[in-house]
Amino acid sequence: MCGIVGYTGKQAAVPILLNGLERLEYRGYDSAGVAVVSPEKGLQIEKCKGRLQVLRDKLAALPPLTGSTGLGHTRWATHGEPNDVNSHPHVSQNGQVAVVHNGIIENYVEIKEFLLHKGVAFRSDTDSEVVAQLLEYTFNNCADIMDAVYQVLDRLEGAYALGILCVDAPDTLIAARKDAPLLLGYGDGESFIASDATAIIAHTRDVAYMEDGEVAVLTADGIRVYDEYRRPIEKEHHLIEWDVSAAEKGGYAHFMFKEIMEQPEALRRTISPRLRDGEIVFDELSLTDEDLRRFDRLYIVACGSSYHVGMVGKYDLERFLRMPVEVCLASEFRYSEPLVDDRSLVIVISQSGETLDSLAALRKAKSLGGYILSIVNVVGSSIARESDSVLYTWAGPEIAVATTKAYSTQLALLTMLGLYMARRLGRADSAEYAAVTAELALLPEKLQTVLASADAYQYLASLYFNRDCVFFIGRNLDYALGLEGSLKLKEISYIHSESYAAGELKHGTISLIEQGTLVVALATYGPLFDKAVSNIVEVKARGAEVVALTTDSLRDRMEKIATHTLSVPDTHPALQPNLGVVPLQLFAYYIALQRGCDIDKPKNLAKSVTVE
Ligand code: AGP
Ligand code: GLU
Repeated sequence: MCGIVGYTGKQAAVPILLNGLERLEYRGYDSAGVAVVSPEKGLQIEKCKGRLQVLRDKLAALPPLTGSTGLGHTRWATHGEPNDVNSHPHVSQNGQVAVVHNGIIENYVEIKEFLLHKGVAFRSDTDSEVVAQLLEYTFNNCADIMDAVYQVLDRLEGAYALGILCVDAPDTLIAARKDAPLLLGYGDGESFIASDATAIIAHTRDVAYMEDGEVAVLTADGIRVYDEYRRPIEKEHHLIEWDVSAAEKGGYAHFMFKEIMEQPEALRRTISPRLRDGEIVFDELSLTDEDLRRFDRLYIVACGSSYHVGMVGKYDLERFLRMPVEVCLASEFRYSEPLVDDRSLVIVISQSGETLDSLAALRKAKSLGGYILSIVNVVGSSIARESDSVLYTWAGPEIAVATTKAYSTQLALLTMLGLYMARRLGRADSAEYAAVTAELALLPEKLQTVLASADAYQYLASLYFNRDCVFFIGRNLDYALGLEGSLKLKEISYIHSESYAAGELKHGTISLIEQGTLVVALATYGPLFDKAVSNIVEVKARGAEVVALTTDSLRDRMEKIATHTLSVPDTHPALQPNLGVVPLQLFAYYIALQRGCDIDKPKNLAKSVTVE
């Protein structure tokens, strides 16, 4: 959601900004813009609605925007429709400052009224423009841009990552952050800001993550960072470990397909270092035995697919730990009155580590005394930094909006965590522990065999791609798995789909089943296979066509019942969703492909949801 990139150095800024924005495209956006500042020409800005290519075409038809200090932005509109005027950067009335913003300024109406009253004329409908206008207004009254920045930040309520250019300081870029991601990049004779590292990895891997309340002043010579009281601070540097090719398609038609195919390797990277001689080991976990014994309740808090990981995890963790596990949508949790206290372990799951609702939920749980353990993919992200312990999924950069390899690695890690805790608490059944750990080691290999059947999913997609409604049904772990299968399908193919606990069908939904309705029936959870069969028979009796997913050992039985049968290798039931999810990802992918959808960047969606 929204991308910011900023550059100051010796090179022409615009090509660097455009390339950076291209790498941030995956985050989701509806318009784009760039601004550069130079001593000769002051501020020069181009921005427009639509894809980055529209901006590139526009810029190509104009005299070049010259300057070695600039900002780029891809906007995901929250306030004001996506159009040229509402696109960022926003320039103040007299053209002294330009601002790009990610987030929402919650008190923008009040600030706008104040400025209108002072005679300031606004151009856009955005909340963001108030930052540029207030900055110029304040600057005119205090004559020092940093004084003005601090005064403005003091008045802003809401969330922001800000990039600021000022004509009076054409070799300087100013950045500020509160509740929206922004990192600093240290180059040789050049400095960068970016929403995430993909935007600048081609130039530098030496980065620092801005914290809430910090303000950074960037020049070609380096970066100075100040805290909220304007005291200089030393930032801890981090080295980005992956390289630019990890965030490229590498010959694949779509990032989503590439990432689906990368799952065995991603799982291997996540699982192997934590599995030693049949024991699960988490060196990075600072939980003491006393902490573990103190917990009497476990919360899993997340959004979207990460929440679905939690839904699977609930079944496994409650069984391993004999402890109540609540799975909560972060957007609900943050505004509820959860019974979290110092006996609660709160697991926050997030690929990006920047999902604002999840971050807010984390802070709420922390304020109530909970111990925060996060499962995060993006190293150094806000959720990772604010947690008491973090377990990283080593899935590598995930670019497609629809998550695949992050989901798989989160799931494996959560199951491992449950089993690990059970072992330390003396609650693990040793035979089960041995069986699950043995199967964990085999998971990447088994997943590879699932991927080898991609043709089967493609064939089924060719039969069903023109449906306008699909139901997913399943029980227990298969129900939780169906939630993810259904989300994958709807987010990239725009087909309406719903996932139901199969036993719930009779309580309403079965009225929607008619001749030819497509039902994807999940029956990979062996202990409830017969129950799943009964539900399949019921929907078939009402005319449904059933694509069933089961395990290899149950395939023969299923083939006698379902319209089409798919199967994945058998593994321990606790890990079965890790294999079952792959056909669902590929089914959704091939359907979206047949429908000609923009698979990596589905409409209205953003990869990293950094606003409420
Ligand atoms: C998944 O395909 C979606 N793009 C979305 O539901 C996502 O899982 C959700 O926004 C949470 O993101 P996070 O894992 O980065 O916090
Ligand atoms: N709220 C701002 C707008 O609607 C910023 C959106 C964004 O983060 O892209 O312009």
